[in-house]
Amino acid sequence: MMSNAEFPVARPRRLRRTAPIRRMVAGTRLHPAELVLPVFVKEGLTDPRPVASMPGVVQHTRDSLRKAAHEAVEAGVGALIVFGVPAVKDARGSAGDDPDGITQLALGDLRADLGDAIVIMSDTCLDEYTDHGHCGVLTEDGEVDNDATLERYAAVAVAQAAAGAQVVAPSGMMDGQVAAIRAALDGNGFPHIPILAYSAKYASGFFGPFREAAECAPRFGDRNAYQQDPAGPVGEALREVRLDLAEGADAVMVKPALPYLDIVRQVRDTVDVPVAAYQVSGEYAMVEAAAANGWLDRDRVIMESLLAIRRAGADMILTYWATEVARKLS
Ligand code: PBG
Repeated sequence: MMSNAEFPVARPRRLRRTAPIRRMVAGTRLHPAELVLPVFVKEGLTDPRPVASMPGVVQHTRDSLRKAAHEAVEAGVGALIVFGVPAVKDARGSAGDDPDGITQLALGDLRADLGDAIVIMSDTCLDEYTDHGHCGVLTEDGEVDNDATLERYAAVAVAQAAAGAQVVAPSGMMDGQVAAIRAALDGNGFPHIPILAYSAKYASGFFGPFREAAECAPRFGDRNAYQQDPAGPVGEALREVRLDLAEGADAVMVKPALPYLDIVRQVRDTVDVPVAAYQVSGEYAMVEAAAANGWLDRDRVIMESLLAIRRAGADMILTYWATEVARKLS
């Protein structure tokens, strides 16, 4: 029955006995450079404003954002991803490609302050800028008009690159968005700007707190007609990834992270580009809320969740804890 490779010869606990042994044999490691910090900046604020459902996260002023960005650089965080919240929104999301729009101004500030000290990314979408809160422009029937939205995304991506974004990250889940943005970047002097595509993005309840932070909850309806169904067809995520790569994506993302680790693993095993996973606002809020009640060991659970995402195959992790965790790692 028992071969001599098994107990009592085999004792897996030998490799767990001391901290140095565990450290030596660790198969999953986190590094600050692979962490990406999402940041919110709101036009017209005089003081940073706390986001109630994300304790520790704020809507920044332009100045407080510069400070937070410096802290991220100090900690060794790999990248920032900027979400701008304009004071005035309209149906087409005009602030998204206005050179004086808040996202562009913030990207310019960061570029001027930080240069190449950290990667500066921008989320390329319309929901932060539209008065109806959807990720695209609408038809007369109130549906999101895929192809008309592509033209808007192209303009937004070019405005962001012109303002100083070093990577653009389209998150709207429109068909053809990567191709449209690639063509626009290439045609406007930005062939060197990579696209990190939010390829497999699910219509998730875990985005709830973000919609407070970015003030982008849809005024009517939901995002189910463009984001993926959590119960969707087997293979849908891989199809989205394949299409995005065919359209020119340089890296792909799975979002949310922890509830979709199976998808992270499938994607990692399938593609030959970097894979990012986004530990979203609801994942953050759950841990902070439970920890505030004394129900979870906050620091331990943060590290464990990030390790799990890394172990599932993510090369980069977007997390609101990026600066804190980077400090701890270095
Ligand atoms: C869309 C976008 C969203 C998030 C990132 N980009 C919101 C949405 O799709 O509804 C969510 C991120 C999070 O929950 O932390 N621009």
